[in-house]
Amino acid sequence: MSAARRQLYLGGALAALVIAVGLYAGGVFDNVGRQASARRAANDLTGDPTRTELAAPAARTGASAAFQPPAESEIPAGEFGDAVRRGREIFVDTPRAAPAYVGNSLRCVSCHLDAGRLADSSPLWAAFVSYPAYRSKTKSITTFQQRLQGCFEYSMNGRAPPLGAPELVALESYAYWLASGATLDPNIAGRGYPRLAPPAQMADFARGETVYADNCVLCHGADGAGQRAPDGYAVFPALWGADSFNWGAGMGRISNAAAFVKANMPLALPGTLTDQQAWDVALYMNSHERPQDPRYTGSVQGTRQDFHATEDSMYGREVAGKVLGASGAPKPFKARSAEPERLITPNGRRLFDKAEDR
Ligand code: HEC
Ligand code: HEC
Repeated sequence: MSAARRQLYLGGALAALVIAVGLYAGGVFDNVGRQASARRAANDLTGDPTRTELAAPAARTGASAAFQPPAESEIPAGEFGDAVRRGREIFVDTPRAAPAYVGNSLRCVSCHLDAGRLADSSPLWAAFVSYPAYRSKTKSITTFQQRLQGCFEYSMNGRAPPLGAPELVALESYAYWLASGATLDPNIAGRGYPRLAPPAQMADFARGETVYADNCVLCHGADGAGQRAPDGYAVFPALWGADSFNWGAGMGRISNAAAFVKANMPLALPGTLTDQQAWDVALYMNSHERPQDPRYTGSVQGTRQDFHATEDSMYGREVAGKVLGASGAPKPFKARSAEPERLITPNGRRLFDKAEDR
């Protein structure tokens, strides 16, 4: 484990503990117990997911050999530095800094840890040196700004800022600056989330549920909705439900989720799950309902056919008697402002059991 990662996780663990204790004192965990959840599940998942464009090089050199982005203190003064700082702010505080384009409680940093600096956590510097690139998702050459647009539309369940929008320019400036001195190379070490070998046993919902209860519930909640601080700020992001990424997002692919989780979760203890546990909990997480795929064609099976025709996606499949994705047409975009949503009342009690579709 690199020094940067060790430092981050020690800090993260401490912060999480402090926050967890605070939330506990506030009664937030009252309803976090083992919920009786769906047992009958798709356990016929084969272990050969289609590769996304983010296929990592077969032999990774490891995070320790990875490129080191410049230190935050080195952001220059002046106009360019201002854009870089603004980009960083949007990256770590997305709902507050870019409210017009965000439809959930997530932040870019929720999935790209350490402000987009951390190797093996799909760091921004590695992304920056990898575009323009052909993407199977868009079936065209995608520029870096276009790639960012997709993050807003899917991962943030929001709306894409138009090309050239100040938000995209700022994010691009931040990524460009982080990549100072990096080689233009889509195979740069540390890019993406290190892909896992196919699981020895087919990923299994029931086993995933156990992994989740043992390793994830404390922070992400039994209902997957995460936890908010009393002021409404999402401290632990939602893994599924109305406040999470939508069905079109990269994290909705079981292979991406397994790779992310193995390398980055539980927050303070990355790499402690076995590969099998990571696959199982990824399947479990992605076997719950979440916002509709914005590319919805009018029917779930049609949408599955067009965009999810792979064992790597649970969209359109039946879990516990319910077809995932059958929530109808995408909801009209509604910005989730970071203003307190009063999910938690001032006395620390929860208003709703789960993040309902507000
Ligand atoms: C829910 C988790 C999640 C959130 C939130 C998220 N991303 Fe991502 N991001 C991913 C995943 C997963 C991938 C890889 C996608 C794939 O392979 O299809 C990715 C890929 C990327 C890439 C391309 C990386 C590469 O090396 O090609 C960039 C750039 C990026 N995200 C930026 C952002 C920005 C900016 C935001 C906030 C506006 C954001 N992401 C929010 C999960 C997330
Ligand atoms: C100690 C608290 C903690 C534990 C335990 C934990 N997480 Fe997380 N998780 C976080 C935090 C905090 C983030 C956001 C990271 C950031 O903002 O820097 C996150 C982010 C995520 C994300 C990406 C964001 C999203 O909402 O989709 C996924 C997926 C995830 N965790 C899955 C898991 C899984 C699966 C487990 C159990 C194996 C787990 N986590 C255990 C705290 C935790």
